[in-house]
Amino acid sequence: MNETTKYKMLIQREMMKGYTAAYVQAEPTDQQQKLPAPGALKAAGNGKRIPLPLDFQDAVSNRNLLSLIRERESCRKYSKEAVPLNTLSFLLWAVQGVRRMAGRGEKITFRNVPSAGSRHPLETYLFIRNVEGVAPGIYHYLPSGHQLELWEDDPDYAEELTEALNGQDFAAEAPVLFVWSAIPYRTEWRYGWQSHKYILLDAGHACENLYLACEASGCGTCAIGSYNQELLDELLGFMPGPSGEKDYEFAVYAASVGLLP
Ligand SMILES: Cc1cc2nc3c(=O)[nH]c(=O)nc-3n(C[C@H](O)[C@H](O)[C@H](O)COP(=O)(O)O)c2cc1C
Repeated sequence: MNETTKYKMLIQREMMKGYTAAYVQAEPTDQQQKLPAPGALKAAGNGKRIPLPLDFQDAVSNRNLLSLIRERESCRKYSKEAVPLNTLSFLLWAVQGVRRMAGRGEKITFRNVPSAGSRHPLETYLFIRNVEGVAPGIYHYLPSGHQLELWEDDPDYAEELTEALNGQDFAAEAPVLFVWSAIPYRTEWRYGWQSHKYILLDAGHACENLYLACEASGCGTCAIGSYNQELLDELLGFMPGPSGEKDYEFAVYAASVGLLP
């Protein structure tokens, strides 16, 4: 490792500590400065909405926590059968579902996964190829109403998606690909320099819930951390970075999903 790489690694390691050093904490956070809080949820667009069933209990075939934890594993081969809509509904509920909203003014959400300060900086997008009753396309999850909204209906993105996933065609061709983006300012508003560590930890919680929910419902999943940032962000229509804007959003994690073969 040359000295430049070593130095860059040092910076990255410091990021993992949440930059607790006094010199970077000098400025009060935007919350301490009483600046308005960002919205807890991304505003819905004009895309067609698909309501997700909440009676997904039948999708859950294994409720034994010990066996779910013991048997969880990454799965990269999926059945050609379509994922039932109520199974997908269960997975989305487990991963980002909103239990309640609270607070005066700008509300915060409490969800099925924990998040630092309940800031919930993640959004969930789905690249759908094979889900019962859902046309292939890119969808955005609206957690407060438990709905999908059509984000992009051009299903002709297969090649670009494979490239964006660094050639991992098992993931690009999976019945569903979950992609989590982060809107960092939701967390930065409260936690400033600590935020970037927290946001990535939050993404880990979402994905672990997906692993367990898949195990419980006859699905397989594989976390995807290897992707091309620019290409995946472009496919999702995000503003190109880097950016310090408050609404800046970019992909941080993904996971492929399908029924077990
Ligand atoms: C942060 C993270 C990123 C990962 N990225 C990929 C990936 O890009 N491609 C892949 O095939 N597996 C990926 N995996 C899955 C790991 O390879 C897998 O968890 C590991 O081999 C252990 O296997 P297990 O999950 O079956 O226990 C990732 C896992 C994590 C936690």
